[in-house]
Amino acid sequence: MSGFTEAEVASIDPSLDLFEEIERLKTERKAIILAHYYQDPDLQDIADVLGDSLALAQAAVADKKSEVILFLGVHFMAETAKILCPEKTVVLPDLDAGCSLADSCPADQLAAYRKAHPNHVVVTYINSTAATKTQSDWICTSSNAEKIISQIPKEKPILFAPDRNLGAWLARKSGREMDLWPGTCIVHETFSERKIIALKAEHPEAELIAHPECEDTILRHADFVGSTSKLLQRVAEGSATTFIVATESGILHEMKKRAPHKTLLEAPTKDETREDGTCGCQECPYMKLNTLEKAYLALRDLNPKIEISEELRVQALRPLERMLSVS
Ligand code: 13P
Ligand code: SF4
Repeated sequence: MSGFTEAEVASIDPSLDLFEEIERLKTERKAIILAHYYQDPDLQDIADVLGDSLALAQAAVADKKSEVILFLGVHFMAETAKILCPEKTVVLPDLDAGCSLADSCPADQLAAYRKAHPNHVVVTYINSTAATKTQSDWICTSSNAEKIISQIPKEKPILFAPDRNLGAWLARKSGREMDLWPGTCIVHETFSERKIIALKAEHPEAELIAHPECEDTILRHADFVGSTSKLLQRVAEGSATTFIVATESGILHEMKKRAPHKTLLEAPTKDETREDGTCGCQECPYMKLNTLEKAYLALRDLNPKIEISEELRVQALRPLERMLSVS
């Protein structure tokens, strides 16, 4: 099962207050709700912990009370929670909530690369499957990637997978040469350099802030580059009063809460319609597969669950624990 059918969603009693029901089920199931900043505002608002991928992995480990995790994010994030907390039931409202980066780096291809480059240290972004993690020496997120790279002895060659944009940015920041896996995020590569330059000219007071998954052409114009949580912090604590935000638009919900008096402009995109018919806009179509209705059903039925074999879990855990130990 990849998720709930339209008929199952339509069968929900319309008189139910889903916010109340989720709250009730949360107590009944001894559940904690972890949500990523890219989720729909309603889903962010029901979370016990709202965070970026690193904070959510840390929250899963830190939580000692619950038996169930309702994960409102994408598959690799929920799978990471399961790897770290095998004793808990982890449910994701829609198992099809994937990630273009995770799709770009199948484990067998990474294993072949390792075989051909036995001396390379493989640093893999957390946006990857459990099987791909098993082929990695280190896992990192955008929050801790610079720190992880600094742990690797200078003489060691590095492969950074699967995000070539984040990898190129890290290579520039650290002064280290790296092989880069050719993966990209379908959301962060949609921003238009030409339109951003025009918007900056219209708002010369604005600060352009960007996630390092954006293309180099965008990052070179940015006044500040950082992970999801660093971008949030910049908006809340920085001195600028207008920001052009080059990342997934779900983050604006929390940015507005933390900085209600600041002006936030979404960075414009190239506006290409993709082959799969999705919008080519600032919204991650995978993240948006989760809805309040499916979150309710997932908690009610404790399904769809993240399942992973113990052998795979133990192998994927090693590089993840290594990451957490220095984060
Ligand atoms: P964060 O690690 O900043 O949460 O990013 C995850 C992600 O999927 C970005 O597109
Ligand atoms: Fe993956 Fe990009 Fe969506 Fe993040 S925004 S989950 S990197 S496709």
